[in-house]
Amino acid sequence: MPQPNAVKCLVVDDEPRLRRVLVRLLEGEGFSCSEAGSGTEALEMLQHDPVPLVISDLRMPQMDGVTLLREIIARWPTTAVIVVTAVAEVESAVACLQLGALDYVAKPFHLDEVRARVMQALDKRSLKMEVEDYRRTLEQRVQEQAHRIEELSLERLQALVHFLEEKDPYTSGHSVRVADYSARIGRQMGLSQAVMEAVSLGAELHDIGKIGVSEAVLHKAGKLTEAEYRHIMEHPVIGARILAPLMRDVPTALAIVRSHHERLDGKGFPDGLKGDQIPLEVRVVGVADSFDAMTSVRPYRPALSVQKALQELEDGKGSQFHPPAVEAFLAAFPDPSALPVTTPEVRPLHLPPPLDAHRRSSPPD
Ligand SMILES: [Fe+2]
Repeated sequence: MPQPNAVKCLVVDDEPRLRRVLVRLLEGEGFSCSEAGSGTEALEMLQHDPVPLVISDLRMPQMDGVTLLREIIARWPTTAVIVVTAVAEVESAVACLQLGALDYVAKPFHLDEVRARVMQALDKRSLKMEVEDYRRTLEQRVQEQAHRIEELSLERLQALVHFLEEKDPYTSGHSVRVADYSARIGRQMGLSQAVMEAVSLGAELHDIGKIGVSEAVLHKAGKLTEAEYRHIMEHPVIGARILAPLMRDVPTALAIVRSHHERLDGKGFPDGLKGDQIPLEVRVVGVADSFDAMTSVRPYRPALSVQKALQELEDGKGSQFHPPAVEAFLAAFPDPSALPVTTPEVRPLHLPPPLDAHRRSSPPD
């Protein structure tokens, strides 16, 4: 009598007599057996109740054993399959082994042989599952480590951005304020949490490319020459190049870095993108970046008043700025005396977790 926790087995054969022989043998060994008279019936049963072991005849009407084997391997890869063949079908049996059957028994079979093959097949199955489990664990650990290394690199880059800003009293705190304004605009516009995370990441690193800009040009007090302006405006491209290897999975953040100086009318940098060609998240950061720049002192001009900066946003609607993002900014600050915001505290940035491409499927019991 099989125990409640007995290993389940499905016997597939179109001859009821042969099924009974196998079932009796296996139940004598403590298995809990079910029976199917055809491949189609076997698949239906597996669909509702997957089992770790299937013993199947090769020659059956409707669906032969080879087709059944292919289906089982594809849909329930942890199920061990043993095929039952006539002596004359050894070639077919070998073909089945190549397809993934764990063993075969030839008819007429000896019960001792069947017993031994079944035990061996279950041992092989356990071993296969252990190896697979080990491989998955290893892959997951490698992915976690790679993610951690990327985050450490990100933290170093974040520190570098703040170091650069702190060196220059005119830009101190710019990135965290832009991230803060962007988050407030994004919330007003109902952006999802996942999008907001990417926006924060991109906003805080948007000017990282200034590492590649000459300090003399960056801090020049007077008016910039045409060549100097072009040199400064290389920073979005430099920034995107620096971050590309780290931000493969966060294209939105990368787009913010590359395109935060684009304008709706196509007169921006570096690609002259127009209207909808500029991703929505980039347009959000564009408003935040411009407002913070306008309300900060620059070496070549004093800070604009909040009122004047808000007017500039209003005037730039549709040409430079995305109108709904400007509206959202105004809605986020109904009382302009709350502007400009106090520079928020710097918090470590995080990359979104890697996609789990290898979800574990629980094996049948
Ligand atoms: Fe910039």
